[in-house]
Amino acid sequence: MKLHNSKILITGASGGIGSAVAKALTQQGANLFLVGRNEQTLNSLAEELLGNHKIIIADINTIEGREHIVKQCSSNGGIDLVINLAGIIDFQFFEKQSEKFIQDILTTNLISPMLLCHKLIPLLKLKENTAIVNIGSTFGSIGHPAFTTYCASKFGLRGFTEALRRELADTSIKVFYLAPRATSTNLNSNALSSLNEAMGIKTDSAEWVANELIILLTSDKHQRYLGWPEKLFIRINALFPSLVHNALAKKVPIIRQFTEQ
Ligand SMILES: NC(=O)c1ccc[n+]([C@@H]2O[C@H](COP(=O)([O-])OP(=O)(O)OC[C@H]3O[C@@H](n4cnc5c(N)ncnc54)[C@H](OP(=O)(O)O)[C@@H]3O)[C@@H](O)[C@H]2O)c1
Repeated sequence: MKLHNSKILITGASGGIGSAVAKALTQQGANLFLVGRNEQTLNSLAEELLGNHKIIIADINTIEGREHIVKQCSSNGGIDLVINLAGIIDFQFFEKQSEKFIQDILTTNLISPMLLCHKLIPLLKLKENTAIVNIGSTFGSIGHPAFTTYCASKFGLRGFTEALRRELADTSIKVFYLAPRATSTNLNSNALSSLNEAMGIKTDSAEWVANELIILLTSDKHQRYLGWPEKLFIRINALFPSLVHNALAKKVPIIRQFTEQ
C-alpha cells in the first residue's frame, strides 16, 4: 500500500516497537494518529517525529477510549491504516497468574483490537485501498510454557486476522499480520531477558522490526513471521507438534527457575 501522505493510526505508539514504527512511517511521509495512555511519552515522541501528528490519549480497553479514538479519526480526515500494536505480557506459569491479569492480557491483546477494528472498519470503507495490521508474535503460533495466557491472546489474534482477511476479501481493505520474535523493549522483564539469553533466543531491535513492517506493508504479501529459526519452528510445530512439545517439555524446569527470579 502507499504510505506517503497516508493517515495511520498506531495503538501502543509510546512503546518500544510503536515508537520505532512511528519513526519509520514518518520517514515514508505518513501522517500519524499516535494512541496511548501516557500523554508525556506521546508528546516527547511527537517532538522527535518529522511532520505534524495527532496524539490521542485513550485506554483501548474502555468503551470511552475506543469511541474517542474513532471520533478523533473521523473528525480529522479519516484513516488509511490501523496498526494494532498495544499489548501486554506476563512471563509466569498459568496457575500463578491472577484472574484479573489473565483477563487484562486477553482484553488488551485480543478483545480490544477486535473491538477497535469493529468500530474502524466503517471508517476504512470510506476510502480506497485501506488496511489493518495486527501485531502478533511467534507465540501466536507456538504454545510455550510460562506464556500460556499471552499465547492464547496471540493465537486468538492470528485467527481473528486470518478470518477477517477472508471476510473482507471482496472489499479494498487489506488485513496484514506481523509476528515478531523477542524484541528488545520494556515489554520484556529482566527475568524474561535472562531466560532468552540462557536459552540462546535471539532478540531483535525495535527498529529492525519496524523496517520489516514497512517491507510487509509495501509488498504483495499479507503476513510475515520474523526471525530464523523461529519461522522454521512455527512450520515444524504446525506439521509435527509432538517434536516441539518434547523439546519444550524438557525445558520446563529451567523456565520455572527464571519465572521465580
Ligand atoms: N517486545 C517483544 O519481545 C515482542 C515480541 C513479539 C511481539 N510483540 C508485540 O508487539 C507489540 C508491542 O510490544 P512492545 O515490545 O513495543 O511493548 P511495550 O514497549 O511494552 O509497549 C506496549 C504499548 O502498549 C500500550 N498499551 C498497553 N495497554 C494499553 C491500553 N490498555 N490502552 C492503550 N495502550 C496500551 C502501551 O501504552 P501506554 O503508554 O499507554 O502504557 C505501550 O505503548 C505487542 O502487541 C507485543 O505483544 C512484542
